[in-house]
Amino acid sequence: MTHHTDTQKDSLIKEAGVMDSLQQTDSTEEAWIEVIHKMDSVYADLVHSQVELEVKNKALEEAQLFINSVLSAMTDTLIVCDTEGVVLQVNSALEKLTGKTKEDYLQHSLNEVFSEDSQAMLDFFPEKMRHESLIDCEVNVHCSDGTTTPLSMNCSSRFDASGILTGMVLIGRPLGELRHAYKKLNFAHNELQRTQQQLIHSEKMASLGRLIAGVAHELNNPISFIFGNMHALERYGSRINQYLNAVDAQIDPPELKKLHKELKIGRIQDDMDSLIEGSLEGAERVNNIIQDLRNYSGGQKEEYSFFELNTVIKKAVNWALKTDKIKPEIQYKLTDEIKINSCKGQIHQVLVNLIQNARDAMETVTHPKLILSTSVSDETVSIHVIDQGIGISEQDAKTIFDPFFTSKPVGQGTGLGLYISYGLAHDLNGDLIFKNNPQGGAEFTLSIPVGSKR
Ligand SMILES: Nc1ncnc2c1ncn2[C@@H]1O[C@H](COP(=O)(O)OP(=O)(O)O)[C@@H](O)[C@H]1O
Ligand SMILES: [Mg+2]
Repeated sequence: MTHHTDTQKDSLIKEAGVMDSLQQTDSTEEAWIEVIHKMDSVYADLVHSQVELEVKNKALEEAQLFINSVLSAMTDTLIVCDTEGVVLQVNSALEKLTGKTKEDYLQHSLNEVFSEDSQAMLDFFPEKMRHESLIDCEVNVHCSDGTTTPLSMNCSSRFDASGILTGMVLIGRPLGELRHAYKKLNFAHNELQRTQQQLIHSEKMASLGRLIAGVAHELNNPISFIFGNMHALERYGSRINQYLNAVDAQIDPPELKKLHKELKIGRIQDDMDSLIEGSLEGAERVNNIIQDLRNYSGGQKEEYSFFELNTVIKKAVNWALKTDKIKPEIQYKLTDEIKINSCKGQIHQVLVNLIQNARDAMETVTHPKLILSTSVSDETVSIHVIDQGIGISEQDAKTIFDPFFTSKPVGQGTGLGLYISYGLAHDLNGDLIFKNNPQGGAEFTLSIPVGSKR
C-alpha cells in the first residue's frame, strides 16, 4: 500500500490552493479540505486493517505450524475424511507405517486405504459415523510394497462449528508391536508354567527322597534281625541235620549223646521258638511299614476310619525327624487317648510337614525344643506344633500358605508344604492356622472334627 507523506499532502494542499486562487471561491476550498480529511481517515483505516491482517496472518501461520507439529509427533496414525469418505488429511505416522506419501492419500477414497478384508467393516462406517463411534476394530491398511499391516482403529465423527456432520477422524494404533509384545508375554507365561511344573515335580521328588530315606531306616531294623535269625537258623539246621543223620545211622547211644552235646542241640531247641517268633515279628513290622506307606503316599482317596490320634502324632514326629542327626528335644503334652474318625494318612502328612518346618525354623537355635500338644473342644480336636524358632514376620504371614512361597535357599525349600497341608486340612473339614508365641517361635494348629464324615 502506498502512503502519502506530509510533504505529499502539503503539495496536494498547495495544488488545491492553486485551484483555489484560480477559482477564488471559499466554498470550493472547504470542499477540498473535507476531501483531504476524508482521504486522511481512509488512509488511517487502511493502515490499521493492514496491521490487523498481518497479526492474524501470523497467528494463522503459528496455528498451522502447531497443528503440523502435533500431527507429525503423533505415533498413532491419523486419517481425516469427509462424509463421502474422501481423505482430507493424514499424518506422518501413517506415511511411515505404509511407506506411502500424503499425495497417495489426499482426495482418494477410504476404500483405497484399507485392504479387501477390512472393506466390510468400512461399509458400516457411514452408518456408524452418524450414530456412534467405532472403538478398537481391527483393520488392515495397504502398504507401498503391496503388503498390508494391521491397525487397531478408533473412529469418531467430526462436526463443524455449527454442529453439522462433516466427516470422520480415524485414529489407528499399529498392531504389529502389540502382537509382538503379546507373543513375548505368552512365551514368558508358558515358561513360568513349565518352571512351576518342574518345581512341583522337584517337591514331589524331594518328599519321595525323604520318604525313601525314612522307609530305608525303618525297614533296616526288622530286616537285619530277620537276617540274623535266618543265619542262625541256617547254622542250627545243618547241626540238626548232622544229628538226625547220626540218629538214622543208629550209632551207639553214648556216641549220640556226645554228639548231642557237641552240636548243642539242647540250646538249639531252647532258641528255636524265640528265633521264629522274632522273625515273624520282624516280618510283621515290615508289613506294618508298608501299610503306613500306602496311607502316606495316598494315591487314591483315603477312606475314613477310626484311629487313635496320639499314636499318629508320635509316628509323624518319628518320620519327620528320622533322618536328622541332631534331633530337637521333644515334649508331648497330649490329652488321654483319643479316637477320631478321619483320614490317618492325611493327618500324618500335614503333621510331618509342620514338624519339618518347625525343625528348619530352629536350625540356629542352640537347644531346639519342639512341643506337641492336643486340645479337644466341641467335637473338634486341635493339634499344636510349637517351636522356638525365628517365628513368622508380619510380611511373610500374608504369603506362607501361597504355593511356592519359601524363605529357604533354592534346593531346600519349594514352598509347597504349607500350601498342600492347608488343602489337606480343609479336605478333612478342618483348618490350619498359625500364630507367633509371645516367648518366641511359631505355633501351627491343625484342627479336625473328631467324627467328621465325608
Ligand atoms: N514354624 C515356622 N517358623 C517360621 N517360619 C515358618 C514356619 N513354617 C513355615 N514357615 C515359613 O513358611 C515358608 C513356607 O513353608 P512351606 O510351605 O512348608 O515351604 P518350604 O518349607 O519348602 O519353604 C517357609 O519357607 C518359612 O519361611
Ligand atoms: Mg516345608
